[in-house]
Amino acid sequence: MLEVETRLLMICCRNPHRTPMTHKQFDNKSTAWSALFSEPMSELVKRYTSSVRFDQRLWQADIAGSLAHAEMLMTQGIITPEDYSAVERGLKLVAEEIKAGQFDWKLDLEDVHLNIEARLTQLVGDAGKRLHTGRSRNDQVATDVRLWLRDEIDLISSRLSDLQKALLDVAEKNVEVILPGFTHLQVAQPVSFGHHLLAYVEMFSRDYERMVEVRRRTNRLPLGAAALAGTSYPLDRERVARTLRMVDEQGLPQVCQNSLDAVSDRDFAIEFSAAAALCMVHISRLSEELVLWMSQTFGFVKIADRFTTGSSIMPQKKNPDVPELARGKTGRVVGHLMGLITLMKGQPLAYNKDNQEDKEPLFDTVDTLKDTLSIFCEMVGGQVNAETGFKEGGISVNAERMESAARKGYATATDLADYLVRKGLAFRDAHEVVAQAVKAAIAQQLDLSELPLPVLQQFNPAIDQDVYQVLSLRGSLDARKVLGGTAPEQVRLQIARHRSRLA
Ligand code: ARG
Repeated sequence: MLEVETRLLMICCRNPHRTPMTHKQFDNKSTAWSALFSEPMSELVKRYTSSVRFDQRLWQADIAGSLAHAEMLMTQGIITPEDYSAVERGLKLVAEEIKAGQFDWKLDLEDVHLNIEARLTQLVGDAGKRLHTGRSRNDQVATDVRLWLRDEIDLISSRLSDLQKALLDVAEKNVEVILPGFTHLQVAQPVSFGHHLLAYVEMFSRDYERMVEVRRRTNRLPLGAAALAGTSYPLDRERVARTLRMVDEQGLPQVCQNSLDAVSDRDFAIEFSAAAALCMVHISRLSEELVLWMSQTFGFVKIADRFTTGSSIMPQKKNPDVPELARGKTGRVVGHLMGLITLMKGQPLAYNKDNQEDKEPLFDTVDTLKDTLSIFCEMVGGQVNAETGFKEGGISVNAERMESAARKGYATATDLADYLVRKGLAFRDAHEVVAQAVKAAIAQQLDLSELPLPVLQQFNPAIDQDVYQVLSLRGSLDARKVLGGTAPEQVRLQIARHRSRLA
């Protein structure tokens, strides 16, 4: 099948002196092409092949790309300054119409690119028809998606920073609050709640780094690749890249270096989706913990009521809908990653219409991630009430419940073993001694710290009065001063490091 551009060109060539194409002529493909095609496109095929319903959201990127291209065509002497001014004026009008919701998107014109170009031509005449010189929709769409995604990545990155700051605020307030740390969801060792939250700050900081990396590879210019082989016009691709801010950290223009690759690969979108899926997985893990912690069984935290819902049958319920939905939405973002990567795998070089299928999953990934990050910023950190100036919402912590949960489950057993090692036992022997002590404590339904000294000494005579400090939750916490450990002094150092990193 011939490309739409080629088909339109052939129609124009039949009568080189014809007046500017009217919107009417441009928008009715089936009539316009009747000389070439023996039958009009059926309504079903039109609906099946067109993308304007969803790709119209690329309009700003499309116009920015067209303006940069036209400006370069002028400086290279390919179009006249008069044509460029007409294009500039026309695209401004088009933008205003779209913004005002007055633009008449036509299914017949297939996609955002042909819709905008047709309207431009209707508004400014021949100059509009010259805009597509040295360009194809193949390099145009690849440019649009990259520009659009770059700006979305910037928004996502700033929300990732906000979420880290919100977590840091809660962490700072809860450095001294102790909860049981789990392995296998069995009580393992006491940890600071601040330390626990900092684990998520680490995850989101890596998500941020990934976004920065993906942005670098997304922010490169395909325009100039034309349909697939480059173009015979003397284009200045680097000029276009600079105009569109497709530059590296040194300000050097970034241009895709192979025309076939430029129009065909969507690896930047796949990479972005992978980074987005990982970020959602991290949010999903936090969600799972919030759901557990909010349950009556745990009772560790509360979140503001506006993030929960009631039950239509059980009046006592407050369900953690937001974290549950975030956990659920992670599935669809992971699904989009699978969709995009599968979309790519069977495509021969160069552009194939398959690539039109990149948009809906990509758009939904961006929307889902952005909304989820925003709602988590507010749910974790709370929001400043404009009237009172006080912060409302956020996570509120039941420190007592956390500590009493840590006291159950012999969370300081390792500390006793380490104590015995300091008294000269080999770790394996110490481990065995403590196992005996725990067994005895369980039989008496007491914590290790509740066993009298003579009882403890039966297990090993080296045990002394100073053991009780070791067996306390706080003693256990304070002892873990190693870099990255849960001792409050270490947690405070980490908070300070994150704060200066995020400043
Ligand atoms: N709507 C198309 C897409 O999203 C634009 C490129 C079409 N190119 C073509 N040769 N049919 O990929």
